[in-house]
Amino acid sequence: MSGHGAPIPMTSRPCGPLKGTANVPGDKSISHRSLILGAMAVGETRITGLLEGEDVLDTARAMQAFGAEVTNHGGGEWSVHGVGVGGFAEPDQVIDCGNSGTGVRLIMGSMATSPITATFTGDASLNKRPMARVTDPIALFGAQTVGRSGGRLPLTVVGAREPMPVRFTVPVPSAQVKSAVLLAALNAPGESVVIEKEATRDHTERMLAGFGADITTEDTEEGRVITLKGQPELKPQTIVVPRDPSSAAFPVCAALIVPGSDVLVPNIGLNPTRAGLFFTLQDMGADLTFENMREEGGEPVADLRAKFSPGLKGIAVPPDRAASMIDEYPVLSVVAAFAQGDTYMAGVKELRVKESDRIDAMAKGLRANGVEVNEGEDWWTVTGLGHGKVPGGGTAASELDHRIAMSFMVMGMAAQSPVSVDDGGPIATSFPIFEDLMSGLGAQVVRTNR
Ligand code: S3P
Repeated sequence: MSGHGAPIPMTSRPCGPLKGTANVPGDKSISHRSLILGAMAVGETRITGLLEGEDVLDTARAMQAFGAEVTNHGGGEWSVHGVGVGGFAEPDQVIDCGNSGTGVRLIMGSMATSPITATFTGDASLNKRPMARVTDPIALFGAQTVGRSGGRLPLTVVGAREPMPVRFTVPVPSAQVKSAVLLAALNAPGESVVIEKEATRDHTERMLAGFGADITTEDTEEGRVITLKGQPELKPQTIVVPRDPSSAAFPVCAALIVPGSDVLVPNIGLNPTRAGLFFTLQDMGADLTFENMREEGGEPVADLRAKFSPGLKGIAVPPDRAASMIDEYPVLSVVAAFAQGDTYMAGVKELRVKESDRIDAMAKGLRANGVEVNEGEDWWTVTGLGHGKVPGGGTAASELDHRIAMSFMVMGMAAQSPVSVDDGGPIATSFPIFEDLMSGLGAQVVRTNR
């Protein structure tokens, strides 16, 4: 129930070099999935390094409402006593997923093939977001849904009593939709097939295999074909949640644009379906290196070292990289403002249906801070001014979107004048230690309503 209270205006002032180590929180995508799959396993899953942001806490509460026992042992250690595939109880209250599209979409999928009914809601941002992309495929399994116009929340799902397996091609590049369908397929008999034309983050597939499901992925001419055998008994796991590359993006990008900076961001997953931003920054000429490359839990992991990069250049970001960096375009557009020349970002229509319309929110905020932006339905261009030449001095609306708020705080660290946001409250959904962590590196991010 994240719907936070009064807005928290924040200002970020130009600062000296950022130095030190940035231990960013656990991965949001993997944290949601750990709780949901833990709830669908039989017995106790132990989780360390869980992201304790509002989005994930809402998912933890939801799993409790469906009958799992979720315990916080302190210090990022959690356990989930699962009820098994098809074992969800009917919640006796409305499920409030706060700001989280991932939470609500995955949970709707996970209950859609059980004979129970649940009603979902969220905050003003979530209740505007499209849900037909999930309600359409769960209808194929036999679930029924009633929501507001355009399939928006609040919305009630009546789970299928006799679910059928499906073959479904995901119409938009969305790991949330793919995952919702896979989670629904868990309680359908026989084999379900999910096809995605563009590869999106594959945490659900990897974790389902880890929990003992019979799942295969094949790259074909049709795209990525994922086959899952229904009604397995999922075995509880011990999960160490890696740190979130999408959160690492903020200290990394800040270090690149603040003169004299040198920041180490340890233990960041470089799963190719998530790491697109880091390769894009390197293409722009960033002094960003991967140290201590290793494999952990089947995933490539490295310590990222980001240093001030005076020679950044604008580039055309390859559109086929979009899915692997979809959450990072807001902060990339800030780095682009400090580069020389235009940065062109295409194939990014999905940015318009995130926690906010991220192209619109960033374009307005960048313009308010003296940066030129051009945009179309699925592309945008930021005209870089070069280091030391970004005016700042404006206030951006964060539109209930954590990544918009953090991106403008990064901008303020290197602009000529401070940059403000009307509300930094949403930052707590994914990066509750953002202010402390950035201040520890030398940033000056302050709440301005004190
Ligand atoms: C996520 C998938 C992405 C991403 C979101 C997390 C996930 O959304 O933007 O922050 O954990 O599956 P889409 O699947 O809608 O692209």
